[in-house]
Amino acid sequence: MEHKHICVLPPEAVAEQMAAADRVRALWQESGQPSPCVLVMTFGCQQNEADSEKLLGMALRMGYIKTDKPEEADLILVNTCAVREHAEQRALSIIGQYKHLKAARPSLIIGVFGCMVSQPHRAEQLKKSYPYVDFALGTASLHRMPSMVLSRLRQGKRQFCPTEEVYPIAEGLPIERSSGYRAWVSVMYGCNNFCSYCIVPHVRGRERSRRREDVAAEVSELVRRGYRDITLLGQNVNSYGKDLGLGYDFADLLAELDGIEGDYTLHFMTSHPKDADRKLIDVMAASSHVAHHFHLPLQAGSDEVLRRMNRHYTVEKYMDILSYIRQKMPDCVISSDIMVGFPTETEADFAQTLDTLRRARFDMTYSFIYSPRRGTPAADMPQLDEATKGERMRRLLDVQNAISLQINQRHVGEILRVLCDGASKNDPHTTGGRTDGNKLVFFDTNEDLTGRFLSVRIDRADTFALYGTVVK
Ligand code: 5AD
Ligand code: SF4
Repeated sequence: MEHKHICVLPPEAVAEQMAAADRVRALWQESGQPSPCVLVMTFGCQQNEADSEKLLGMALRMGYIKTDKPEEADLILVNTCAVREHAEQRALSIIGQYKHLKAARPSLIIGVFGCMVSQPHRAEQLKKSYPYVDFALGTASLHRMPSMVLSRLRQGKRQFCPTEEVYPIAEGLPIERSSGYRAWVSVMYGCNNFCSYCIVPHVRGRERSRRREDVAAEVSELVRRGYRDITLLGQNVNSYGKDLGLGYDFADLLAELDGIEGDYTLHFMTSHPKDADRKLIDVMAASSHVAHHFHLPLQAGSDEVLRRMNRHYTVEKYMDILSYIRQKMPDCVISSDIMVGFPTETEADFAQTLDTLRRARFDMTYSFIYSPRRGTPAADMPQLDEATKGERMRRLLDVQNAISLQINQRHVGEILRVLCDGASKNDPHTTGGRTDGNKLVFFDTNEDLTGRFLSVRIDRADTFALYGTVVK
């Protein structure tokens, strides 16, 4: 799939969708029925969470009110992921469960979005085997949701649009944020890297950066409204700006945003090691608002595997970046993504990954078993058997969990700044929050401190969380 270079969607095209949204609202009002309900279901990464906030924003403008109960919904929007087979199967199984909802309520409209349906074979599968799905829009055309719903309300045909010629940036869509103090801000979309295992470049198109003034305006507005934690998002966030050709890069953007006055923290994800230059690390170290937190996927600790993955760096090059980060920011929390069972990964390759984990000493890692993705080069390489992959995953977790535990225990006695997230989901008697380095912290409090920065003294630590006492 080749995508032409883009562009910002013309404002008229956004206005056209808003007009469709208003038309839908009017139709519901004219019908005299109570306000209709919308359910947005999201799979996958933070980029998808951010996209879903736009889907919900548009749906509210269309007169829908939010529900969490599928059986109450008049409109169900499923935002899918394709990064691993498991994510696709979960989305398909949820969509499958909606069949009986449609039977019970034929006026229900079901739309599917995101990376899974950006693959023509999946869009085709939905069209053929899921006749109760009304429409599907790939990542290029999420903004067209209002006109799709309007068309279906007017008995228009089902439509399935996995890809478009261009992947435009739609500025100015309404966003209904899920939190009043943590926000996602997409700064660039798409990816040019073509790692040999990865579906993302195939489903999200080439890299497109938002205009710096659009990003700055959005972040300033969030800070003004009291947002405390802002995460800049991009599939390859630190290559921001390259496509704009203005000589203004991600480090420049970060420095500019850091200049916005207020009580807030900036995070960013996800970075590619090949674009993690010293300038970016220097800007982080000198900034007032950028968290000392770096998520830098390593993927594998064998140069041969990295080469087959098309990652464009060696283990030594990666370790150089780590030491520069630690030299400039000794307190920096560093996390990584690791993949096991990449095609042709030998026991010796895997042993090098374990060895690199021991040298790198990440605070935490997200580890994944390789999952073949149709249309990517790695899917055609000789595959490992499931048992080997599973066994390597267990060994990887053993090594990393021991490191995470050791590092977390070093925090005992420290006082860390924590952004409070309110009552913990698992235990309503405990309150949870996250440090600037994104570590989970639990503590007791009688007050509702949600959305506030607290000083918490760490009393105890385990592999996945810290436990402490609020001191301020
Ligand atoms: N199989 C397993 N994991 C994958 N990732 C990306 N593609 C695949 C795949 N085909 C992992 C990478 C990436 C993270 C978001 O998901 O580790 O960094
Ligand atoms: Fe999944 Fe990648 Fe798409 Fe995010 S960008 S939803 S991780 S496939």
